Amino acid sequence: MGFRVTRIDVSGANLRNFRPDLYKYGSKQYNALIGRLKRARCRATLHVVDERGRPGTISARVRDIPLATLQHVLIPGATQHSHVRPSDLAAAEQILRHNPEMARRFRSSRVQPIDWATLPFDLNASKVMFVQIVSVGKDGSVDWGAQTIENGLFPFQDFALSPAANILHYGQGGFEGMKAFRQANGDIVIFRPYENAQRMQRGAKRLVMPPIPEDRFMEAIKAAVLAQPELIPPAGSGAALYIRPFLFGSGPVLGVKPASEYTFAVFVSPVGPYFKAGFQPTSLRVETKYHRSGPGLTGDIKADGNYVVGLMAAKEAKAAGFGEILWLDAACENVEEAGAANFFCVVDNEIYTSMLTGTILPGITRDSIIQLAREFGYTVHDDAKLPLARVLQAQEAFCTGTAAVISPIGSIEHDGTKTAFFGGSEDVPENSVTSRLYKALLAIQEGRWEDSVLRGLSSQFIDRVKREWIYVLNTAG
Ligand code: PLP
Ligand code: COI
Repeated sequence: MGFRVTRIDVSGANLRNFRPDLYKYGSKQYNALIGRLKRARCRATLHVVDERGRPGTISARVRDIPLATLQHVLIPGATQHSHVRPSDLAAAEQILRHNPEMARRFRSSRVQPIDWATLPFDLNASKVMFVQIVSVGKDGSVDWGAQTIENGLFPFQDFALSPAANILHYGQGGFEGMKAFRQANGDIVIFRPYENAQRMQRGAKRLVMPPIPEDRFMEAIKAAVLAQPELIPPAGSGAALYIRPFLFGSGPVLGVKPASEYTFAVFVSPVGPYFKAGFQPTSLRVETKYHRSGPGLTGDIKADGNYVVGLMAAKEAKAAGFGEILWLDAACENVEEAGAANFFCVVDNEIYTSMLTGTILPGITRDSIIQLAREFGYTVHDDAKLPLARVLQAQEAFCTGTAAVISPIGSIEHDGTKTAFFGGSEDVPENSVTSRLYKALLAIQEGRWEDSVLRGLSSQFIDRVKREWIYVLNTAG
């Protein structure tokens, strides 16, 4: 036992030219470099948890920190660096074990506990991120294996970016969104991450970026989540750990062309419901002035640029008192999506969602809900466009997404007329299709396999869901 070291902060050290590894330990040059660090008033702080689980800090001299740690920096010119590589933390723990004088400097610190029940969908807390910067060779190749996963782990921090980075001007970038859950049995799981890996590959190709190999994507998200298990909400809290992988052109360009350097990164944040109302119905406004996508555009991938085109529409709708927008196709005839989520409605107990027209994001939650609903015995129409006229006859409406889970839609306003769903009720009736699917999806994600809401599903389906939808990161105990 002893201290668990969670982060090492080093301040005052400009490590740009600090390469003591070039010199023999204890040699004149080596000592001169260390002396330079000392004169520069470099300090180190170890963030630790003591044997009794109390968080705190231990101040240290920089020369007590292993050199391999000091050399692992994301921004070499900076004078403050923090380190979270597992090997660095283990080395610091070892030093503490052999240095009782240092350990006596433990100062406990107060940590504000996270209130899981009231978390908004926001960047609430993030400690560690994964970063890999790759160059594209002349032949278009990328050596993703050149960096170890461990060497990609850094504290959540700013990037150093060229002012001419492609992403800043021409928007070469895309992202993904997934959730990790602590299941009822204590397992830490991610919901259908292979689907995200594949969608991100498709997106990267469309944006002329190098696709991230599936293995690398999986290892990176796994490392980012397991580096900060304390941020994964407890089972049944209603919150989840949102995982945000992203890839962007970080290389400089002036002419419009693909970057030759790309940054792949993953950060996480514990989150609550996407819509303020939670599982209360949200009001939508049909958008006819703006469009998020069109034939041949990038609506079917998670391109950064898709989201900025929606900001004005969302701002105007929110200013007018609506929760979100309902996107139509370019002809303003068919319903495509609801904000950053897929749209569904229920007409006479049959479920409708737009076919994947190439202008709609193929949501992983959408696919899960279609499968789940069919397994419950509902008829699901997902092979045709969804006319607005049909939607306005529906009894229920909801949208689906990683962030949105299933969010009920209480009303849709179009041309000054409001259509209400769920019989105009402020709450979603317990016996509605929407409520049943919502509860079933959550039970699956949270691993409540005995929950009565799953009773209508066959054991073959449940077995397949466990096998194919639930990616177990870490089994309990
Ligand atoms: N549509 C858009 C535009 C989105 O951004 C998202 C979110 O990822 C979705 C739909 C839902 O997709 P998923 O269920 O895979 O999260
Ligand atoms: C998601 O559901 O993961 C999204 O990407 C939605 C949003 C936060 C952009």
